[in-house]
Amino acid sequence: MTFHEEDLDEAEATHYRSLTAVDADGDERAVEAALRPRTLDEVVGQVRVRDQLGLVLEAARRRGRAPDHVLLSGPPGLGKTTLAMIIASEMGVPLRLTSGPAITHAGDLAAILSGMNEGDVLFVDEIHRMSRPAEEMLYMAMEDFRVDVVIGKGPGATAIPLEIPPFTLVGATTRAGLLPGPLRDRFGFTAHLEFYEAHELDLIIKRSARLLGVHAVPEGTAEIASRSRGTPRIANRLLRRVRDFAQVRADGVVTLPVARDALDLYEVDQLGLDRLDRAVLDALCRRFGGGPVGVSTLAVAVGEERETVEEVAEPFLVRNGFLARTPRGRIATPAAWEHLGLTPPPALTLPETDPPLFED
Ligand SMILES: Nc1ncnc2c1ncn2[C@@H]1O[C@H](COP(=O)(O)OP(=O)(O)O)[C@@H](O)[C@H]1O
Ligand SMILES: [Mg+2]
Repeated sequence: MTFHEEDLDEAEATHYRSLTAVDADGDERAVEAALRPRTLDEVVGQVRVRDQLGLVLEAARRRGRAPDHVLLSGPPGLGKTTLAMIIASEMGVPLRLTSGPAITHAGDLAAILSGMNEGDVLFVDEIHRMSRPAEEMLYMAMEDFRVDVVIGKGPGATAIPLEIPPFTLVGATTRAGLLPGPLRDRFGFTAHLEFYEAHELDLIIKRSARLLGVHAVPEGTAEIASRSRGTPRIANRLLRRVRDFAQVRADGVVTLPVARDALDLYEVDQLGLDRLDRAVLDALCRRFGGGPVGVSTLAVAVGEERETVEEVAEPFLVRNGFLARTPRGRIATPAAWEHLGLTPPPALTLPETDPPLFED
């Protein structure tokens, strides 16, 4: 089957991110702030990261020094921002918050850095999207706590060195593999967040229900947990939507049938796949005969950015055995065909996928 991008039906290029969109917006940020764990002890799951980070922070406290720079990586909604805030609060210091795309010039970064006090935590979200010159300035700041601020242009330009008090940089990225080596190497501690198990999401949902004053029975929260796509942000969002449903269509209690009916209504399937996940699998199987197909082509087919497909849909699909990333492109597994109610082609054999073909 040959494929031409211009054959694509524009109407299909709708956006799939709604109820299970992994980014938070406006109102949701306020709710999220209320539900965020405030200490490492309150963090559910991510046991290894929590233990390791706890040790890094405790050691720094005993030495009376700012902890090493920390890099947090993993798909959206798994707790990167939460952990950054916890690092600052556990150290009892202020958190300065910015993001890669917000730092367009090295001067922006210099301004932020020069306003830091000793021990402060600087959180740079989406650190892989920082501009090149800012990135280079950051190397120096991380290593030597110093930056060169360039004044003027051309031959008359002078670099004025600026000392910065020792601080802790916490970087977050959805793709650690995209960070340039020199930047990655300057982090003393790197943590990769994994999708959560259903029982962990269940604990998160129970805690959120308590904080929001939602009456939910265990079978109800378990159902929401199993459809939350391994992601706390989605778990909290589904809880709120199921609560709406319970209040309007039932007696306000989140029970198993209420959770089921609500989630069916919102098109969140049994395994937690959302519309984008299904669209990706659907395109892969129906349009491309199961692949292999390049990720860019796949992204066009579902009307999404390549980054969204790679950073949002794929990690979950790969982790759940629906999709394989191979050097020749993406391939649907038999489980993907079956999930869509299709028969896998008889000759479907998966290539060996070890050693890992992708970094993250
Ligand atoms: N380990 C966790 N335990 C409990 N709640 C969590 C955990 N991780 C994330 N959350 C919840 O999920 C929401 C999204 O987490 P966030 O840190 O903003 O994710 P990220 O920055 O990785 O996109 C937070 O509001 C928080 O309430
Ligand atoms: Mg975040």
